[in-house]
Amino acid sequence: MSEYRLTHSVTDHRGDLLLDAGTVLSREAMQSVACVATASIGTCRLMDFYQVGSDLNDFFAAPPYDVIFKGTDRMRALLDIAGEVTMPEPLLEALYHFRKLDFYTYRHTLLVFALSILITRELIADRTAMIQEVLAGPVHDIGKRCVPIEILTKETPLTPSELEHLHHHTLAGYVLLSHYFRDPDILAARVARDHHERKDGSGYPLGIAMDSLTTDIIMVSDVYDALISPRPYRKSSYDNRTALEEMIRQAETGSISHTVVRVLVALNRRSRPHFSQCVLSAEERGAPPEDNVYGTTQPNEKNGPH
Ligand SMILES: [Fe+2]
Ligand SMILES: [Fe+2]
Repeated sequence: MSEYRLTHSVTDHRGDLLLDAGTVLSREAMQSVACVATASIGTCRLMDFYQVGSDLNDFFAAPPYDVIFKGTDRMRALLDIAGEVTMPEPLLEALYHFRKLDFYTYRHTLLVFALSILITRELIADRTAMIQEVLAGPVHDIGKRCVPIEILTKETPLTPSELEHLHHHTLAGYVLLSHYFRDPDILAARVARDHHERKDGSGYPLGIAMDSLTTDIIMVSDVYDALISPRPYRKSSYDNRTALEEMIRQAETGSISHTVVRVLVALNRRSRPHFSQCVLSAEERGAPPEDNVYGTTQPNEKNGPH
């Protein structure tokens, strides 16, 4: 059985070592990191943290999010659920660190959060389960706090060792979230660990076949935003139609969830159909931008977005 092993160390918000490179993330290791004593740490509502709420509003104005987030009912529901998300301040500060040094990651994180709320509303009825699910959105890439900023913002292909360091963000996020929420079983920590796995086993860190609706929702939101947003190594992003076609193609090959992609397509339709009424067509009309390779930093890398 494969095991989770850290390729690099994980430190806390003060720079103190939590777990060293080479550590196997056994049950005992994760329980001990969840129990490491911390000076009292406050919590804060995500939407009240500095400019998070107003930044999100600005992000909603740009296509295609202007269509997805349009409408009083949709926005009211979104803000109602988003308003319930609170988290330990070091995690919020890590998020804000990206606002200053890696704005792409900051924007991406908040949009994955907002999009996952709309998708979750369609697929998860229980309110408590819904809040647990959407909490995973803003922290799914929080492990990038343990990746050098030069790697995150590099505009040219990463070397194999840089790519390995970048992939470290999944397990680093798992450790950080287990630590700050003091619970290695919290859904957000597992989603941070698993959001680059794929349903057909083609992802990382372990390459196992994921079968979890909660991970599926973040996975689809993550891939979609990565496709339609500019990235450090890709100045021109996919247009929305081509991005949705790429999502459908991936759903049909079995790497991401067909149901979740169907919800995403329904959210993109101005006529507001229920997702069960959306037929997915893989017919290709658009073309990916020429000057880049989707979600990759290496020509042969197929593990999706960062
Ligand atoms: Fe992401
Ligand atoms: Fe990620």
